[in-house]
Formats: sequence, C-alpha cells, structure tokens
Amino acid sequence: MKAIAVRPGTPNSVHLADLTKPSLSDIVNDRGVLVRILKVGVDATDREINDALYGQSPEGYDFLVIGHECFGVVEETGSAVKKVKPGDYVTCTVRRPGGSIFDQIGRSDITSEEEYYERGINLRHGFLTEYFVDDEEFIVRIPPGLRHLHVLAEPMSCSAKAVEQAFLAQQRLQVWEPKRAWVTGAGQIGLLATLVLRLRGMEVWTLARGKRDGNLKAEIAEGYGATYVSTSDVTLQQMAEKHGKPDLIIEATGHSGIAFECMQVLGHNGCLVWTSITGGQRDISIPSDNINLNWVLGNKMLVGSVNANFRHFESGIADMALGEVSWPGVTERILTNPIDGLDNYAEMMRLLVEDRDALKVYVNVADE
Ligand code: BGC
Ligand code: ZN
Repeated sequence: MKAIAVRPGTPNSVHLADLTKPSLSDIVNDRGVLVRILKVGVDATDREINDALYGQSPEGYDFLVIGHECFGVVEETGSAVKKVKPGDYVTCTVRRPGGSIFDQIGRSDITSEEEYYERGINLRHGFLTEYFVDDEEFIVRIPPGLRHLHVLAEPMSCSAKAVEQAFLAQQRLQVWEPKRAWVTGAGQIGLLATLVLRLRGMEVWTLARGKRDGNLKAEIAEGYGATYVSTSDVTLQQMAEKHGKPDLIIEATGHSGIAFECMQVLGHNGCLVWTSITGGQRDISIPSDNINLNWVLGNKMLVGSVNANFRHFESGIADMALGEVSWPGVTERILTNPIDGLDNYAEMMRLLVEDRDALKVYVNVADE
C-alpha cells in the first residue's frame, strides 16, 4: 500500500512509503476491524512532525506514517466484533494504551506515563495510507448523515474533551453556571469548541488574529451565533475591560504567549483550558507576581487537555449532529482544502506550511 511518511529526526522528510496491507489476523481475539480509508485530515501536528519537532517511528521501522484524523468504511470484521459491520462509516481514536492504571481503564488520553503511543504521531503508524486494522475498542461509528463532515470527528473529539474537562474540574465549586466563554484561536479546534460552547447556551466570543471582514473563520464562528473579534484590533485586556472577564476560556491558538496572556483576563472562579501543542522554543516574560496574586485571590483554575478517548469521540459526534440541525451547513465550511490522492503529499504539506487561509487540509484517499 502507498503511505505518506516522514523520517523522524530529519526535517522536511515527507515522502511516499510502502506498507504491507494489514489483515484481521493482526488483532488478537477476533476483535479486528479492517477499514478502507476514504479521507484523512492533516493539522499543525503533522506539520511539526515533518519539521522534526517530535514524533518517533514504530519499532522496526525507520519511518512514521503520518495522519491521525481518519474517515473510512469498514471492509471486514473479526467474528467477535459487535460494534460495527462492513459498510459502516467509521473513524478511529489516536492514542493506544501504555501501562498506567488510566491506560488499563480505557483512559489512555490521560495516561500518567511520559511516553505515549499515538497513531500517526508517536511510535504507531497513522492513517495516511489505504487500509488500517485495529481493535474494535478504538473504532468509532460515524452516522451516515454526518458523512459530509468526515475527518472533523477527530478534532471535534479534542474540543469536546476540552469543554468536558472544564465542567468536570469545576465541580470543585459546587455550583458553576458559566455564562461568558472565550475561545482563543479560530483554527479547527477553536471553531469546533465554539460550536460545543454555543450548544451549551453560552455567550461565546471567538478571538483570533485575522481581521473580521471577509474572513471565513469569522463567518463560521458567527454562523454558530458567537461573536468574532480580531485581536489585531483589540487586546485581551481591552476585551475584558469592555465586555467583562470570561468564566471559561478554551485556548487554542498554538501560541504559548497567548496561553499565558489568558491568565491575566480570566474571571473569578474561572477555568482556563489549554489545548495547544507548542513544539517550539518560545521564551517570554510574564507579570508573574500579578498573575499569582490574582489566581489565588480568584480561586482560578488551569487545565491542560490533550487527545480524546472513544467517549469524547461519541459526544463530539453527537454535538456535530446537533450542530447540523441548529446551524445547518456551517461546520462543513471548515473543510476548505481537499487534496486528490496520496501521491499529492507535496501539495498537502505545502498548503499546511504556506497557506494561512487553508483552514482544513485533507486528502481524498479513495472514492466510496
Ligand atoms: C491530536 C491529538 C494528540 C495531540 C498530541 C493532536 O494533533 O489531534 O489526538 O493527542 O496532537 O500528540
Ligand atoms: Zn490533531
């Protein structure tokens, strides 16, 4: 099979590799699901892996197949598989269990081990190829009516988890009814978080660098009933003074400076969720005394949130369905840049690296 791969450790090594086709017998206890891949999305993680900022090959390989946002159709199932059947549309979770207690209870998304196993990211091949096989535990069914949103199921799972984590952690307060939420960043995670928060009835402000006029990201955020504000027109501090401090911030800019700046504007008893993976070496100074003082006096909370388990995929998919009936046609506008076929990997990477308007790049691997 053709596969798009990198050589971890070597910057800009994206290339076409060759993989043997997997089979049901690769999975123990007849729990295998063989999936024919239709589409795979790529994001900043794939770009940073190609920049050799992180990512390791699976044992026995000197390359890593990238791509962790998959959409496919079940071709064959092992005799013990109950969840899906041939012909079903599916996606697949990204992380695989290590050895911690959390890994053993289906919560590898919060593994306590430093080493993590992620398909397409670290130590496990990803989905930018023609077929994959996995244990049914990791396979998530996508309703046919959401087929047009395909590769968004994985980023949506991360946004769904980020919001869920805030609500779970805020149980420390006994009563928490967040009214005003900010989302910083209007990439796929920020926009999908905007959707999740709007579905929970909050007043949502989506804040990002780009100017508002003629900006697709602004149109999508406002399509969900949020207010889009360009941070090139107004600072976070000015926003807080003018419209009030937020109860909740989902930070998804990919910029650690802004992640820290958010600490200066969060309201009392508020919750800030960091979701960005910042692979660089940025080093900034912050008003640490002031932040420390206000965080203690305001009982504020910071939560990091990464990855998602199958339950977050399911709740994300449910929210995508509710999003479709609430604000029809908005979510599919995220899917901006299709690439035809695995052979076009160079164009895929070029869009990821160079085109700041490419909100979502994905590869059409095969027709249905
Ligand atoms: C993926 C997550 C993953 C994270 C860290 C993100 O791009 O969507 O599933 O856990 O990167 O590797
Ligand atoms: Zn991702």
